[in-house]
Amino acid sequence: MKSLINRILQDGHCLDGGILKVDRFINHQMDPYLMKQVAVEFMNRFANERPTKILTVEASGIAPAVMLGYLMELPVVFAKKKQPSTMNNFYVSKVRSFTKQRDYTLIISKEYLSSDDRVLFVDDFLAFGNTGVGVVDLCKQAGATLIGMGFIIEKEFQEGRKVLAEAGVKHIESLAIIEALENNQIKLKGVKLRKVNIYEEANRCLLCQDAPCTKACKTGDPARALRAIRFDNHKPALRWVKDCSDADLERAEQACIHYNWPIRIKEVVHSIHKDDVDDSCYPDLGIIFCGIKCENPFFLASSAVCINYEMVANAFKAGWAGVFYKTICMQEIKEVSPLFDAMHNNATHGDFYGFRNMEQLSENPVEEDFDILRRLKKDYPTKVVIASIMGQTEEEWMKLAKMAEEAGCDAVELNFSCPQMKHKGMGSDVGQSQELVNSYTACVKSSVKIPVIPKMTPNITHITEPAEACLQAGADAISAINTIKSVTMASDAEVTGRRTISGYSGRAVRPIALRHILELAQMPQKPVLSGIGGIETWRDALEFIQLGCSNVQVCTAVMQYGYRIIDDLILGLQRFMAKRGVNELQQLVGEHLPKFLNPDHLDRDTIIYPKFDKEMCVGCGRCEVSCSDGGHQAIVFDSETRRPRLVGTKCVGCHLCRLICPTGAISVTKRITKK
Ligand SMILES: Cc1cc2nc3c(=O)[nH]c(=O)nc-3n(C[C@H](O)[C@H](O)[C@H](O)COP(=O)(O)O)c2cc1C
Ligand code: SF4
Ligand code: SF4
Repeated sequence: MKSLINRILQDGHCLDGGILKVDRFINHQMDPYLMKQVAVEFMNRFANERPTKILTVEASGIAPAVMLGYLMELPVVFAKKKQPSTMNNFYVSKVRSFTKQRDYTLIISKEYLSSDDRVLFVDDFLAFGNTGVGVVDLCKQAGATLIGMGFIIEKEFQEGRKVLAEAGVKHIESLAIIEALENNQIKLKGVKLRKVNIYEEANRCLLCQDAPCTKACKTGDPARALRAIRFDNHKPALRWVKDCSDADLERAEQACIHYNWPIRIKEVVHSIHKDDVDDSCYPDLGIIFCGIKCENPFFLASSAVCINYEMVANAFKAGWAGVFYKTICMQEIKEVSPLFDAMHNNATHGDFYGFRNMEQLSENPVEEDFDILRRLKKDYPTKVVIASIMGQTEEEWMKLAKMAEEAGCDAVELNFSCPQMKHKGMGSDVGQSQELVNSYTACVKSSVKIPVIPKMTPNITHITEPAEACLQAGADAISAINTIKSVTMASDAEVTGRRTISGYSGRAVRPIALRHILELAQMPQKPVLSGIGGIETWRDALEFIQLGCSNVQVCTAVMQYGYRIIDDLILGLQRFMAKRGVNELQQLVGEHLPKFLNPDHLDRDTIIYPKFDKEMCVGCGRCEVSCSDGGHQAIVFDSETRRPRLVGTKCVGCHLCRLICPTGAISVTKRITKK
């Protein structure tokens, strides 16, 4: 019974001495839905035996017995383990309990078991068969016909089936058969255990605050290890769990509060490979951006993640090198509710891939914001504090920039790109006008000495045109991108029944942001770049760096996961550099730019065929479906063996199959010349 087997593997725990703990769903907390499935299965398996009564033993057998009795419309009797004072006329049999290591009696009133009955006995476990033998005895005493016995779980290695057969039970059914409980492993008959996919498990992890698993573990930090895997630091993850024993990891797993089933912490930890990069060789991530020394390239993006002193101070303490503070303006800002909406799969609520916001600018009074920036710079002198500003007139732009300089800010970012401003002459409309961005940049440049960094809107065909206008006006660097104009249709994101176009950000926008960065990096002026858009992991950040950014900013990922993602941004980038033997981050800046060509210059004479790993393939047939309906009908699916086969003469090497295969069973062969 598949659902039962899955549940045992997910929620069952193997204890010392051959004990299987199933108290999450069978014999303490009960899952009624599973119990119903159990009863349906028993009903099917004993349908031909025509029972007239369901018999069980208190207490764990009662739930499946009642369900079965209900479905088969039969009375249910349970044998008591103690004689009630009100019961005088009864059958009794003595039984040895395996789990409790003591004898007890089974008692049934003569009123409820008689020679007219055709009895079907059901119970939660078949172990040594002692209870079953007691039931055989009771039926014999009553002259009842025992037509069979059904068990939810059978521990085959304790040989109860043999004992019952010898006692004369002809029909025995067990819905899940355990072959062995060894080394804390549950070995189920007929079940090939799928190796844990550590990324799948790390993605399921809820990334809990003050994680219960870590608290229960005591010798390590499994929650931190899972977070490292989730944020692309698989190998270094071992450092947080290397001293944990299996017992520690099992405790951690039992403490896991995942709402479906616990993260398979022990198996995940056992699957982490030893790191082949020595962390004593990790380089410093220091880099110069716009002439400013930064301890690493990771900054908070101007947004909801940095709207007051405490937030930025916390981020600095966590390891962020700098902040582009929430955009300051002179207008009164009043936000709507709800302010946000998100796009996610139904299965991954809480983990969205795209994020829409209607937030405008800082709601604080201007003086208060500059005072915050002044205090931040004073309290964290090695961190980089950049004011983001937005004016409505040249005078406002100049005034705000001067205030930023006076507050001790290291640079000023000009927000030419907010897509949801309600005020005229502000936001991404300005960012589309070369004339306006040129004149605002020029007037700010003329009023301050600190670097000036215009922030570009992606809501434009050629981002290089306004960027060029800014550079002509003396901009010291360009940052990109702000959010992308978008519409989402969820009714619970409406504002009193109304909607508006507003900015989209997060994981989904990264390829678009990278395209804009590439075009900016390819400009003849080779501007200094700060990259923004969908950065979550160090690998995402590296992509921006390799396309020419010497600084990267993060907003949505911090909103989702917190400032703590900096740990893995730093760790992963350092490890990558150590592995490549790169000492200076600057060496990576723009290293992938030469790879980009126009489409007409790409090689069209060679091909890479997909390769199928028969072991990893589970036979879902998705590759065949996609290749048939969205490719070149180059995959044949054998419905007998449930395995795909490639027809080389039809395959065009598009790799759709590889991208949709849910198990990663499709990889690549060598590139060869097309026939
Ligand atoms: C809630 C929210 C508020 C934002 N506020 C500002 C802002 O005040 N000034 C600004 O320049 N960009 C603002 N942005 C845009 C971000 O700085 C960033 O450019 C964009 O979200 C893309 O990065 P991400 O994918 O890491 O979020 C905001 C974004 C969000 C989601
Ligand atoms: S308790 Fe479970 S869900 Fe929470 S952090 Fe630990 S493993 Fe993840
Ligand atoms: S999509 Fe992957 S797992 Fe499914 S049949 Fe094809 S190769 Fe096998």
